Amino acid sequence: MAFPLQSIHITLAVGGGIAAYKACDFIREAQRHGIASIHPILTPDSQQFITPLTLASLAMQPATIDSFALDERGVPLHIALAQKTDALVILPATANLLAKLANGFGDNLVTTTALTFTNKPIIIVPAMNTRMWENPFVQENLRKLEAQPNITCVMPSAGLLACGETGAGHLAPYTLIFEALYKVTHPHANLFKGVKTLVTAGGTIEPLDVARVLTNRSSGKMGVALADELHAMGAMVTLVTAQSEPPVRSYRVIQAQTAEKMKTAVLGLADEQDWILKAAAVSDFKLQDSNPHQKLKKQPNQTSYSLTFDLNPDILALLGQKKRPNQVLVGFAAETETAEIAPLLEKLNRKNASVLLVNNVATTGLGFGSDENQLKLLYPDGTTEETPILPKPLLARHVLLALAHRFLK
Ligand code: CTP
Repeated sequence: MAFPLQSIHITLAVGGGIAAYKACDFIREAQRHGIASIHPILTPDSQQFITPLTLASLAMQPATIDSFALDERGVPLHIALAQKTDALVILPATANLLAKLANGFGDNLVTTTALTFTNKPIIIVPAMNTRMWENPFVQENLRKLEAQPNITCVMPSAGLLACGETGAGHLAPYTLIFEALYKVTHPHANLFKGVKTLVTAGGTIEPLDVARVLTNRSSGKMGVALADELHAMGAMVTLVTAQSEPPVRSYRVIQAQTAEKMKTAVLGLADEQDWILKAAAVSDFKLQDSNPHQKLKKQPNQTSYSLTFDLNPDILALLGQKKRPNQVLVGFAAETETAEIAPLLEKLNRKNASVLLVNNVATTGLGFGSDENQLKLLYPDGTTEETPILPKPLLARHVLLALAHRFLK
């Protein structure tokens, strides 16, 4: 799911390594995330791999290589970029570029621009051959850079490299770069600093037989949006998700697809959490005597079929029973009827939740599976707050600001 980067303007600095070609894809992906603008700059060596025209055409902004370039007002470009963009993304950062950045060099447009971002975020995305990556000089430069409060390094992953070797040095997945960009530019970056949070997401999947499952329409988008937002606001996040394809994130992601597996994962981590947000749509039922190795068979001429279900554990209620006095337990309620408060309040009290986020799943285009939603926040004293209809990432921010106001000391 996309990070909401609509208000973010970035300078994209491209270094001279083979991963320079990925800067093109990065621009396209960033545009899919709705980024406000991308201003490309290049090192002289990067032109061996990519041209300014390619980057300019994709970014729809001039792509500059000249250290002495001026902007349209006559301001030196390396200074103007720090004035008008929110963050500098260096992609790919070569070993040479890391050495120059770590030692304060200003010998080309990329390094001089980095020097002007002293009080603004810089995201460094290294990519190089494994042996270069493991070189002690490179690692020492990286440590120096990471020690700077405004610098975030998005580390390379392991994989097949352009040179044909396999190992660390592969440019990080774009998702992790956007996650970092969203975090370093977040207006409430430290609101949840150090708060340990656990979020559940997705619709659980109960096996019926070897081929069939019982599940629901939840996509997991709201839970992931809450986890992303908490991470961006400084929380220490664990996401327990039933999604078939869990998101790629820098925080801990655990896949648990049945209610029983989710219960084990969540209860095992519950005691150490300050906040638990139960956004997952947990199946209330599981098949009695399900056999994961066989297929349920019908008889010839059979016209109906009966299955017997057991009730699954209610994870939220179990969490409510062992909730510490200062632990915040956020429950959700998927309802088709949300006008009457009394039954919702009864659910909140029965599960001992600190607040219930009520989702009207009967409204077409909202809630289950969609990109937008609206929630009613219900507190134990019976007071309610209604959110506007918002895209899920913005709704997550709206809800967390409201909850922080009430529960964060
Ligand atoms: N929940 C849970 N374990 C279950 C069922 C629900 O932890 N077996 C949690 C959900 O994650 C959610 C909250 O309970 O936070 C409410 O879910 P909902 O489906 O609205 O409520 P139910 O308890 O299943 O009640 P209902 O009978 O109205 O479906």
